[in-house]
Parts: sequence; C-alpha cells; structure tokens
Amino acid sequence: MLDFGYPTRMTQSMTVAVLGATGAVGQEFLRLFERRQFPVDELRLLASPRSAGHKMRFRDRDAIVEAVSPESFAGVDLAFFSAGASRSREYAPAAIAAGAIVIDNSSAFRMEPGVPLVIPEINLDAIGPADRLIANPNCTAIILLMAIAPLRTLGTIERVIVSTYQSASGGGAAVMQELEDQTRAVLDGREPEPRHLPHPYAFNLFSHNTPINADGLNEEEAKVIEESRKILGETNLRINVTCVRVPVLRAHTESITVEFSGVAPSEDEVRDVFGRAPGVILVDDRAANHFPMPREASGRAEVLVGRIRRDPSHPNAICLMASGDQLLKGAALNAVQIAERLMQAGRLDPVGLAGAG
Ligand code: A2P
Repeated sequence: MLDFGYPTRMTQSMTVAVLGATGAVGQEFLRLFERRQFPVDELRLLASPRSAGHKMRFRDRDAIVEAVSPESFAGVDLAFFSAGASRSREYAPAAIAAGAIVIDNSSAFRMEPGVPLVIPEINLDAIGPADRLIANPNCTAIILLMAIAPLRTLGTIERVIVSTYQSASGGGAAVMQELEDQTRAVLDGREPEPRHLPHPYAFNLFSHNTPINADGLNEEEAKVIEESRKILGETNLRINVTCVRVPVLRAHTESITVEFSGVAPSEDEVRDVFGRAPGVILVDDRAANHFPMPREASGRAEVLVGRIRRDPSHPNAICLMASGDQLLKGAALNAVQIAERLMQAGRLDPVGLAGAG
C-alpha cells in the first residue's frame, strides 16, 4: 500500500503554476513542493495585480509573483488553482488550452458531471486517461471522508450525521489575520471588529458564514453533502451536516455519527480499520482523555481520528471525532497527492506531454 503521508521522489521535472500563490493555501503549495521534493523545474507564481512584483521564497531563492492573465499558462505542464471559483472559471480554459493539467481547489467545477472530484486514498480511479481538469474537494468533505471511507469495509453506511468545528484558515489568510487581530483586541480590553466575517470571532463561534438556501442549509453544508455523495459514488447517501466556525487558527474538527445498515461494528473493529487505513492516525486514549485536536492536527499530513464509541441512542451507529489540517489534507496536500499519483501513472511526464501536443 502506498504511503501518502511522506515525501515521494519524482524523476520528471515540470513547469508548475500556482494561481493564488500569495494566499493561505498557495503558500502551503510552495512549502509542500520543497518538503516532498516535488519536481518543479520552473515555478510560476500567479495572483491578483495587487501582488504583482511581490517576492516569495522558494528553495532559498526569491520568486516573483505575477498578475495572472490567460497568457500566464504558456508552457505550463501542471497548474494548481486556489484563488476562488470565479478565477478558476476565468482561467482554467486558458490553462487547459495551453496544454496544462489543472488541479482546481475551488468549488467551480466540483459538481460538473465528467469532472473527477478526487481524494486519492478513496477514488483515484475517478480520473480518466483524458482528464485535464481535476477538482479538489471541499476541505470539510475531505476530512469527513478520510474518516468514514475506511469504515465501508465493516458494513454498508446507511446514514451520516456531522457537526463541524471549522477554523479560520478555511476563510483564507485574511480571516486568519482577523482572528489574530480580534484576539489581541479583546485581550487588550478593546471591542473585536469584524472585517470579513459577519460576527465577532475571537472568544465566540457562529453558524458557517456562507449564504443559506431555501432548505436552511448554508453553502458549506450543501457542498459537504453533495460532494460526499459524488466522491463515495453513493447518490442517495443520507447525510446531514451542521457547519460551525470556531476561533481556531487552522485545522477543522468534526463530530461524526455513522449509522450502518445492520448492527454497528465493535469499537475494536473500528480502531483496527483506522490503524491500517492510509492517511489517518488513530488518537483514541480514553485514560488520558486524548482525542483528535486541531492543535495536534495542524501541520500534519494525516487526519486524526478517535473518540470512537457506540451510539447509546442507536444499536447500528458509532460516533467518532476527526481533526485535519484544512490547508494541507483539506486543500494543498490533497491536490499535490493527486499530481503525484498522475506522475506515477505517467500522466505528467513533460516529454510525454510534448509528444502528445
Ligand atoms: P492576492 O494576494 O494578490 O489578493 P486566500 O484564500 O488566502 O484569501 O487567498 C486568495 C488568493 O487568491 C490570493 O493569492 C489572491 O491574490 C488570489 N486572488 C484573489 N483575487 C484574485 C484575482 N482577481 N486574480 C488573481 N488572483 C486573485
């Protein structure tokens, strides 16, 4: 079994673009390229005109950020997009036309039929040989599915109920800054001033700050529901999600109840499955009251799972908690892992691409 948590050495070298390089996820891409020895021959850092000319450190050198334009993608083999859905819609066609494979971290194409929505540990086979646009799922959906997909070896999942404790990083660099600034303000005896969020964030929590639809679901909840169904290939999966923003800097945590079609597996069976599943780490120490925490999940490649117990209200259900770094497995790392798997499959060999052109 392949280990997704540790650096992989690649042999090919490519021209790689990061759209949204200056953002919270964009910066993680650069760190991951270094840490995982990702074969970047030339790196193109793309952002808004506001950042044009800014310098970012990459492999001990300064790299200059450029304002994105359709011409930015000439000669690019692989493009990671993380600058919001409207930028993805605007520039993905140009990048693909220029010959790049695009891995898009936005919601722009996730639910389009024919666009693979991929978590490598779960549904890598969704990527077809001709696909040039691959969608990276919503961060909350990735962390949830990393925790529940391994349980499918223990029975048929009938229903899933999730409550989330989502960090500032999901809102990007500006929201992380807002949490830090408000926390300082409150400790200094000043009023917290909301800038990008609708409510005071420091020492508070609130229902996720995305628009609410006619059914009362906010956009984040609707995404987790529909993306989970697509990734698991279970159109009718019964799933209910409540998304809440909590004053944690990075790493989302989730409380999850999984109901099976028959009697639930034992706690030991669940622990055993998590002990063997790629990309997850079991943190389940009752004696020490030590379970998944965002502080320990931050900076880690793996999703932490634990707090495993039977649901006292239903014989077919088990409960657990999961915590995962929203910027890593929830975003940049999952995208890089997709690219690594494409390379392993020979899909990202620049020689091969040039030959195909
Ligand atoms: P910039 O820093 O120039 O605004 P985050 O998710 O942390 O908020 O980051 C969003 C990323 O998307 C940043 O890199 C940001 O660049 C980029 N971005 C935002 N608006 C645009 C735009 N109109 N064109 C290109 N990149 C954009």
